[in-house]
Amino acid sequence: MLNEFRKTIPASQLPPGTMKTVESDGESILLVNVKGKLFGMGAICTHEEWDLSEGTLDGHNVTCAGHGSVWDLTTGTGKFDEPLDPEPLYEVEEKDGYLHVRRKR
Ligand code: FES
Repeated sequence: MLNEFRKTIPASQLPPGTMKTVESDGESILLVNVKGKLFGMGAICTHEEWDLSEGTLDGHNVTCAGHGSVWDLTTGTGKFDEPLDPEPLYEVEEKDGYLHVRRKR
């Protein structure tokens, strides 16, 4: 588990309005830039394991390309017609031109 900040991709690879999945310490993390605010959440949909970076972004919600569950990047919870396990959340910081992530919960 990512208890300490780990360096990931250059910040320039995540311009506003984009999402990217990165791997760090065996965890798949969805990095999202919403108008300059950075979010980190588990990247693999807990429904049937689609990569959420293939979905669509609307504000701080991500719609899974698989079957349309809607994920809230601020809470890690997904809305669907059946209950879904929540995603872990990550803190994302920009330092020296790179994005660093650490697990929140
Ligand atoms: S895999 Fe995401 S909604 Fe089914």
